[in-house]
Amino acid sequence: MLEPSADELRDWGNSVTQFMIDYLGGLRDRPAYRHTSSREIRGRLDSTLPIRGTDFNSLLKVLRETIVPFSRQNAHPRMFGYVQSPGTPIGAFADLLASTLNANLTIWRSAPAPVELERLTIDWIRQILGFPAEADGLFVSGGSMANLAALGAARHARDDSLGRLRMYASNATHFSIAKSAALLGIGRENVRHVAVDESFRMQVDDLVAKINADLASDYIPFCVVANAGTVDTGAVDSLREIREIADRFQLWMHVDGSYGAFAILAESARRLFAGVEQADSIALDPHKWLYLPVDVGCVIYRDPEAARAAFAHEAEYTRMFGEEADEAFVCWDYGPELSRRFRALKVWMLLKGVGLDRLSEAIESNLACARHLESMVRASDDFEMIAPVELSIFCFRHVPVQLRNQSPKVVDAFNERLLVALQRDGSSYLSNTMLGGRFALRGCVLNYRTTLRDMEILLDDLRRVAKSLPNSV
Ligand SMILES: Cc1ncc(COP(=O)(O)O)c(C=O)c1O
Repeated sequence: MLEPSADELRDWGNSVTQFMIDYLGGLRDRPAYRHTSSREIRGRLDSTLPIRGTDFNSLLKVLRETIVPFSRQNAHPRMFGYVQSPGTPIGAFADLLASTLNANLTIWRSAPAPVELERLTIDWIRQILGFPAEADGLFVSGGSMANLAALGAARHARDDSLGRLRMYASNATHFSIAKSAALLGIGRENVRHVAVDESFRMQVDDLVAKINADLASDYIPFCVVANAGTVDTGAVDSLREIREIADRFQLWMHVDGSYGAFAILAESARRLFAGVEQADSIALDPHKWLYLPVDVGCVIYRDPEAARAAFAHEAEYTRMFGEEADEAFVCWDYGPELSRRFRALKVWMLLKGVGLDRLSEAIESNLACARHLESMVRASDDFEMIAPVELSIFCFRHVPVQLRNQSPKVVDAFNERLLVALQRDGSSYLSNTMLGGRFALRGCVLNYRTTLRDMEILLDDLRRVAKSLPNSV
């Protein structure tokens, strides 16, 4: 098992490929989610410390009979919860190959061709976003790590010897921003929550007011975080306006595009991202809207030297000799990680193998699905939207006739029960959020398999499940 023969390897490969074929072929027939418990799953797993090995097919049997049915099926076309990509077969094969080679992308010398492939692929992403040629970046584990890296660079770029630093982000911003502020010693309390408008975009007047108030109290405003797709509603802040304000007050402008930024590839959404290329840094997640399997996030810095100033570290055991320029490229100079897996391979195989035309089409189709849901909801008399659809996230609630004159509290409680029942039912999966103090059913279309018909099935599922709720209304 530790070093299988060529024949064994071929057998394993065939079994794994057959597993993929069966799994992907049967996706639509599976429930998106199966209600279960920790006890039920543990009861099915052999918990004895394995002193002797087990043959490969027995391991696959556990995967097939326990792991798969007791997982949430993230590749299912009606898995609308959170911001969950479905993964792609080409990405899965790339992960297998990356682990086979087991390159460790610490510096160019450690993995010459893999590092070149990462730099090439990062450059393609730079071009997609329209950043200047000098911009550069890294693949990291995800959007949270990309936000942390970018804010680390931003923090380092500002002298804080004269007072406490303050940063600004709308109150619809993902929690990884506040968490980064805490980890970087900026402090959660120094992240100022800027108000949003009725479309959940940052109110720039409030941003300016907060900056001025902080200046008057001797704080040092140093950074503003704009959203290119909030996690709640998909709102894209006004990037150009925020850039102007950042320039006026000499702030670092970071864009959190972890969910939304790749929608720049879709013609119908491109205008929303005008000005993104003027940011000082951006976080984005190929493991979200490039459909890739976790994990792969990406950070791009407009001025990579600013990142190097924050992250470079010389140690005797890593000192390099006789290398210059590109061959001296040190990955850990641009982010927090040292050992890094070969994430670039799946990004490269996807972009090169699938091509931007097909990816743009898939993203466009996701946007169309969310808009279709919105128009059905608006045309119905038993659902209502709670936020406008900007990208592929939709927030709404079910208000059957009997509930129409009930208090908001009753409607919220009903929708909460409906969400749990829908998840247990398994045909469609939604998650939830709170908007303006009201409970919202929340979905996100992030799967190239999802069709307009799936959006219709979702509403049918909700109506069906609502009727079956005990004492429903
Ligand atoms: C807007 C936004 N930022 C950051 C993140 C964090 O990304 P990750 O889960 O890859 O760390 C998410 C995750 O959904 C997100 O939607």
